[in-house]
Amino acid sequence: MAFKACRVFNDAGTVTSRLVAMDVDDLCPGEVLIRTAWSGLNYKDALALTGRGKILKRFPLNAGIDVAGTVESSSDPGLAPGTQVLVNGMGLGETQDGGLAEYVRVPATWVVPRPSGLSAFEAMVLGTAGFTAALALHRMEQLGQRPDHGPVVVTGASGGVGSIAVSILAAKGYRTIAVSGRRQHHAYLTSLGATETATPDDLALGSRPLESGRFGGAIDNVGGSLLAGLLRHVGLWGNVASIGNAGGPSFDATVFPFILRGVSLLGISSANCPMPLRTSVWQRLGADLKPAHLADIGHRVIGLDEVIAEAVPLLDRERHGRIVVRIGK
Ligand SMILES: NC(=O)c1ccc[n+]([C@@H]2O[C@H](COP(=O)([O-])OP(=O)(O)OC[C@H]3O[C@@H](n4cnc5c(N)ncnc54)[C@H](OP(=O)(O)O)[C@@H]3O)[C@@H](O)[C@H]2O)c1
Repeated sequence: MAFKACRVFNDAGTVTSRLVAMDVDDLCPGEVLIRTAWSGLNYKDALALTGRGKILKRFPLNAGIDVAGTVESSSDPGLAPGTQVLVNGMGLGETQDGGLAEYVRVPATWVVPRPSGLSAFEAMVLGTAGFTAALALHRMEQLGQRPDHGPVVVTGASGGVGSIAVSILAAKGYRTIAVSGRRQHHAYLTSLGATETATPDDLALGSRPLESGRFGGAIDNVGGSLLAGLLRHVGLWGNVASIGNAGGPSFDATVFPFILRGVSLLGISSANCPMPLRTSVWQRLGADLKPAHLADIGHRVIGLDEVIAEAVPLLDRERHGRIVVRIGK
């Protein structure tokens, strides 16, 4: 059976991506064959497609860390043909042919039944970005984060993870400070429920080892000096979820927020999240954590043939919200 896929090649160290026709028999092995309905384009996918980041562990490989679709065939008795499913992370689009393709084959242990509260389109507006934002809040709440601790700062707020984090936090009653370096997106962030908007410079984070504890917590997509600055301002027993490094991987901090204020720095790693936690976070995304603004966040819908051209503008910070990829007929 022939189908189309966004496939990444490495020719003597030069990474290129092409839309190709391939056969189901050429896909990586697995128990479950999924007919794709929707996928999405993540920062990580753009790094993989352009070769700007070392994401793929083998070549050639279909890109795409997210997929939602229907089980076409399966040797696993728990996943009958016709079951509505999704996969995010686990190795999809990194070690295994990914979701930016009309068909995907994966191990049965990677498959999440799609929550009844989400359509396939909604599941991919969320995708890894939404899953990661929800995982961050889930972990913060496990450590006692509550709205009355004070406003939660979201950095890289106009991006996929950031937009969804703002919308989820607002729905759960948190005051949010949406931090975007692009002022032109501040009105968008207000429409998603942000209580305040700011640029990183507006925050005036200072340089003392501990500053006033004006934030209840933070969800950080940027890393670098912005993460270091936020840690200095988080109040007693607040939580900071470290998700991304869009602004840089290293940061210079002291232990004082941890040992004098009980602040926790939480690592959020969606790709290898254990399956029981993964399933329960997806269930919450279809219920109490479902963002109210999914259609606005997933405003950019493209076809499979447009994916490769979208990767560079996404990395060059020329997009906002989520890029959703329509694949099924
Ligand atoms: N840990 C995990 O499991 C996990 C999962 C998903 C994503 N991530 C990471 O989280 C980050 C966000 O992912 P995403 O999918 O939301 O990407 P995205 O949609 O491209 O958003 C990234 C946002 O980061 C900000 N940004 C970009 N370049 C920047 C720079 N040079 N300096 C400062 N800020 C910059 C921009 O926000 P503003 O313009 O609004 O400031 C941009 O919208 C990425 O680093 C990604 O790799 C991690």
